[in-house]
Order: sequence, then structure tokens, then C-alpha cells
Amino acid sequence: MENRKKVIICGGTGFIGSHTSVELLSQGYQVVIADNLSNSERDILDRIETLSGHVPIFEEVDLTDEQACDRFFERHSNTSAVIHFAAFKAVGESVNKPLMYYKNNLQSTVNILRNMDRLSIPNFIFSSSATVYGDCEELPITEKSPILPASSPYGKTKQINESIIEDTFKAENNLAAAISLRYFNPIGGHLSGELGEVPIGPPNNLMPYITQTAIGVREQLSVFGNDYPTPDGTCIRDYIHVVDLAKAHLVALERLINKKNKSFYEIFNLGTGNGFSVMDVIKSFEKMAGQKLNYTFAPRRAGDQAATYADVTKAKNELGWVAELSIDEMTSSAWKWEQNYRRNLS
Ligand code: UD1
Repeated sequence: MENRKKVIICGGTGFIGSHTSVELLSQGYQVVIADNLSNSERDILDRIETLSGHVPIFEEVDLTDEQACDRFFERHSNTSAVIHFAAFKAVGESVNKPLMYYKNNLQSTVNILRNMDRLSIPNFIFSSSATVYGDCEELPITEKSPILPASSPYGKTKQINESIIEDTFKAENNLAAAISLRYFNPIGGHLSGELGEVPIGPPNNLMPYITQTAIGVREQLSVFGNDYPTPDGTCIRDYIHVVDLAKAHLVALERLINKKNKSFYEIFNLGTGNGFSVMDVIKSFEKMAGQKLNYTFAPRRAGDQAATYADVTKAKNELGWVAELSIDEMTSSAWKWEQNYRRNLS
């Protein structure tokens, strides 16, 4: 009955959480989504159901509310694992509202882990980020690369969360093991076009800014900097398709459930291992969408690094996971989603 195991997905209606919910439900897991819908819509649940053919259990809950969190976990104590995506994620906003970020992104983790211990829910997967490496200059970035000061309160909450998790799983208690997955730059959407990213307000990130410009919601994309020491002068990132990322969570979950983990706390980089420049992404988008994008070169954005990309050897060797989808599949699925989403709005 391995595949009827119950898994709690905190933040399961968000961008990465919703894609992961689809993958788990499709593999026969029972999925319980806890989300306060602060950055997602309820109709995502219907989309998850349509794509997976299974109904997730959903509870609208604020995980930073200690009592509400306790009650939620008590209703679902017979759970094999928790995957925790529920967090604020806008880098710029976190600089202006640090306490909002520390409270939301740290308190939820503490409440979740306390309940897991209390109710003997053994396994935990955390949604971390390459942002924990700070201004890392050695490339590619391995899991052993130094953790340098993060450039924003958002980044610091990821670093602190990782420490909270490591310390908690190291201690004597009812918990078994945890995995932190450090994502590089997740983009794209479900290949059906039925699921994707829905930024609130003007997007901070490149891919949604491109698709919103192409569909006419934004006038023009600003390419931040074309004088970086890279082949075409624009920044290089390790973009990874969100569906590949979702599948990595399934593999990490099965590693924990089947006790294949090698220590109580493991960390994996998730990327493709390839760097693409902003211009590479624009060119791929133009090719896949069959239209020119209105963009202009603008000054550098404060805090941006010239290039970051992952060493993904550990994920390949230990998890047996590699990203399969190409940059063209990333840009075309993001575009398919944008068109579909706007069509449904009108
Ligand atoms: C940021 C976060 C990362 C998070 C990711 C996705 C940091 C340091 N980085 O990554 O943790 O996982 O977002 O949420 O915390 N760009 C433009 N024009 C735009 C927008 C972006 O040229 O309008 C460029 C940027 O300069 C950058 C690249 O596109 O070179 C990617 O930017 P973005 O999508 O914002 O991601 P990161 O900043 O790399």
C-alpha cells in the first residue's frame, strides 16, 4: 500500500507546490494541501484535480497561527511526510518588509516541525533556494560551496530555515529525516498549459515579465544590464522547468519514505547544470512563441550576480534525478500558460 501514503503539502496551491501536488497525486499519494491562499487562488485546486485525476484534500490554514496549525496537524496526524513550500518569496519586498518575512517564513516552519515531532510525523522536505549561497563566486555551485551572507531578508529566511531544520532533526525526538532542495531559477508551467505562475502585481522575475509583455499586460521588458562579464553581456542563470522540479520532490519523498537517505539531513541542488543568459531566454521565447518581444537594455539591477549555475552531480548520483526539459520547453510552457490564464480571465 506504499502508494496510498498521505503527504501534507504546505503551500500546495502555489507555483511549485501545485505542480508537486499534481505529481504526487498522479503517483497515487493522498495529498493534503494546507494553504492560506495569500498568493494563490482556490481554483488551482480544480486544475490540480483535472491534471492528476485525483482530488486533493484542502484546508485553508495560516501555518503561522500556532493554534490553527496545531488543530490542522491533529486532523492529519497519520501522515508520512510534510513538504513545506509555504513562504513569501519576493526579494525586493523582503528588503522593505523584513519582519513580515521573518515572521511568515520562520514561524510557519517552527510550528510545522513542532507538530511533526509531537505527532510523530517522520519526514520533511523543505523548499530552499540557491539564494542561500549568497554572492558565491565559484562556479558551478556545489552543495559544499560556502554559505555567504544572503543579499536579502528573503534569502536569510531560507538560510535560517535550513539551520532550524538541521538542528531540529539532529536533536533527540520523534523525527526521522529531512531534505532541503535548493532550487536555482524555476520557470515554465505544466505542459498542458493548465497550471503555471500567477504573480500578483508586476512580476519581479524574468519569465513572467517576458510572457506578460508578450501578451500586452506590460509594455516592455527591461533587460537589467548588458555589460556583465558574460559572452553576451547579460546575466546567466540556471533555469529549471517547474515540472522537473516537482518530480525531484517525488524522488526525494520516496528516498525518505523508503529510508534510502544517508543522513538525518541532506541537501541537494536542483537545476539543469547549464547557464542561460537573459538574451538566450528571450531568443528561445521569441522562437517558441513565434513573435518578437519588446525589450530594451536598462541599467543593472542592484544585487544581481553576473552568473550562477548549479553543479547537479549530487542530485544525479544520490537521487537518480536529472532535469529533462529544455529551455525551449520552459519558455513555450510559460507562454502556453500565460495565454490560457488570460483567456480564462476575459
Ligand atoms: C531570484 C531570487 C531567487 C529566486 C528566484 C525565483 C535571489 C538573489 N534571487 O533569482 O532566490 O529563487 O528569483 O523566484 O534571491 N531580469 C531582467 N529583467 C526583469 C527581471 C529579471 O533582465 O524584468 C534578469 C535579472 O537581472 C537576472 C535574470 O533576469 O539576471 C533572472 O532574474 P529573476 O527571474 O528575478 O531571478 P533571480 O534574481 O536570479
